[in-house]
Amino acid sequence: MSKNVKNALRKVLANTFMLAVNTQSAHWNVVGPHFAALHELFGEQYEDLFKAVDPLAERLRALGELAPVGLVDLAAYATVKDGLGKGKAEAMIKALLDGHVAAVKTLKEAIEAADDADDEPTEDMLIGRLDEHQKMLWMLRSLLEK
Ligand SMILES: [Fe+2]
Repeated sequence: MSKNVKNALRKVLANTFMLAVNTQSAHWNVVGPHFAALHELFGEQYEDLFKAVDPLAERLRALGELAPVGLVDLAAYATVKDGLGKGKAEAMIKALLDGHVAAVKTLKEAIEAADDADDEPTEDMLIGRLDEHQKMLWMLRSLLEK
């Protein structure tokens, strides 16, 4: 298995987990006049993100690698920042947006690594994840349009 694919897949997994936790935090803590809509949207997004974690970790195992163990191990691979910073709904949305931008960057690198290694199943899985992150990015960006 390509070392590049292994490392890239770990980063994608860590970023997905970090975004899931950050998005669930937003689901819990968001306040303001759009509370109901944002609470629901963040709820749908964190569920998708958490669901994606397991297949990514199991792909690593299928490739003969160990999955990260524990939160510290996971966080070490993430390029998405932990937490949402301080602020209300708009600041939370911006923090999540930045996280998805970082996740997309890592995903594109991972897709390229999988393509170079002729690892089609990993590439296919990652392309599916890219589609989901881009969809979430669209929704978060739309919330900020005035
Ligand atoms: Fe909930």
